[in-house]
Amino acid sequence: MNTLLAAFAFFVPIFLLLAKRRISSKKTPPGSLGIPMIGQSLSLLQHMRANTAEKWLEKRIQKYGPISKMCLFGKPTVFIYGQAANKFVFASDSSTLANSQTESVKTILGDRCLLELSGEEHKRVRNALMSFLKPESLKHYVGKMHQEVRLHIEQNWQGKQEVTVLPLMKTLTFNIICTLLFGIERGTRRDELVDWFQEMIAGMWSIPINLPFTRYNRSLQASKRVQDMLKDLIGEKKLQLQQMGADPKQDLITCLLSMNDGEEISEKEIVDNSVLVMTAGHDTSSVLVTFLIRLLANDPSVYKAVLQEQEEIAKSKHRGEPLTWEDLTKMKYTWRVAMETMRMFPPIFGGFRQAAKDIEFDGYIIPKGWQIFWVSSMTQMDDGIFREPQKFDPARFENPSSIPPYCYIPFGGGPRICPGYEFAKIETLVTIHHLVTQFTWKLSSDNRFSRDPMPVPTKGLPIQIVQKKQILQVS
Ligand code: HEM
Ligand SMILES: *[C@@H]1O[C@H](CO)[C@@H](O)[C@H](O)[C@H]1NC(C)=O
Repeated sequence: MNTLLAAFAFFVPIFLLLAKRRISSKKTPPGSLGIPMIGQSLSLLQHMRANTAEKWLEKRIQKYGPISKMCLFGKPTVFIYGQAANKFVFASDSSTLANSQTESVKTILGDRCLLELSGEEHKRVRNALMSFLKPESLKHYVGKMHQEVRLHIEQNWQGKQEVTVLPLMKTLTFNIICTLLFGIERGTRRDELVDWFQEMIAGMWSIPINLPFTRYNRSLQASKRVQDMLKDLIGEKKLQLQQMGADPKQDLITCLLSMNDGEEISEKEIVDNSVLVMTAGHDTSSVLVTFLIRLLANDPSVYKAVLQEQEEIAKSKHRGEPLTWEDLTKMKYTWRVAMETMRMFPPIFGGFRQAAKDIEFDGYIIPKGWQIFWVSSMTQMDDGIFREPQKFDPARFENPSSIPPYCYIPFGGGPRICPGYEFAKIETLVTIHHLVTQFTWKLSSDNRFSRDPMPVPTKGLPIQIVQKKQILQVS
């Protein structure tokens, strides 16, 4: 997931000098491992920042074909591309491909989070999380989500002439997660959490050198504070459940606690996975909504069609009446626009796995222990799969069966497919509903973005906004 790729950004491979490198004499894929240790890491990083990483990889594909070797962050790595590669990465189980995290990510997130688990344990913890994150359960939280978005707009958009979208969307998705998943009310506790959380994230992609004043050290301290706060919270929520008859469904943490006496998920697992959900769910959705807002500013005809769909829904409701699950099912066009946005501007560029044994793929050997670098989003811009890939066209998704399997997978696939898919969808639709029915906007900066490794528009996407006069808005 993003954390894997994010490791690129600040990771310096020197500490991996001692990592053992197995050179197989069999037919490993074409390509060169480059300068020892450094390999192609700096090149890739540079191209990501300049937003030309896809072009850089395309050149490799032209030169070597869809499978080639390189060296990234001190590890021999096989880059694979295409529909078959995507299927191989996402359909294989952990006896073939292991998840591979950097040391920093593992230490900061905790060793019982989903990214560190495999096989039956992974399945058990995932099922526990899914009991809250599945659509049949989440549909009851649309109203809560609606209130969060309404409050956010009141506090941050109304009365303003200019806003900067990306940081605001990060605030919004953070608040939504605090309310719905953690059940942490607004106030000092939430404010403290946001500070620690930022500090924690900042060091996640750093060199794991634990000395005073290193980024990693500060990040570890922050991560410990976040974990302590979650432990306290769990204590309180347990009490509320046992003594005050709290609703077991009030938030994700309470839901997990009420499952049973730690057989399905232990308290340590609840803590680690809460930290993971916050990390995985916060940047990704804020990037999606940010790029939607950018797209709607650049494409008046799409804006008009989205507005029309959303106004239909707004008209069918009383003033102030919250959106429901039923309403969301009518936002079909808006979601196709979101899907097309993720096709062209995927929040997650790619990630890593590790060969758990010698693997034969496409006529080559990938030796045990080597990294596998997947960039599944590249099939989304392949003109053999999506005609005129540079053209924004939400109609591509009118007939889902017209898209070949494993060619459009912004949420991954198989046993590790994103468990936050439905959550992200609800967040996105509710936010866009509020924004288009209440505001028009235009960009106040250029159209460019870089990858860090999440796509980041110039200056965080400042926009000029005008609030609409008519009282069509839902609240
Ligand atoms: C637009 C928004 C999102 C996108 C594009 C996205 C994308 C992804 C992708 C591609 C993966 C799979 C990575 C891999 O196979 O290595 C993933 C995993 C994951 N995502 Fe998301 N995600 C989004 C939102 C969310 C949200 C809102 C949450 C939490 C509520 C979340 C929680 C997770 C978790 C916990 C995993 C790890 C699953 C596992 O290893 O079993 N994501 N996501
Ligand atoms: C940060 O570094 C100091 C000094 O080496 C060490 O005592 C402390 O335990 C480190 N903090 C964490 C959270 O590991």
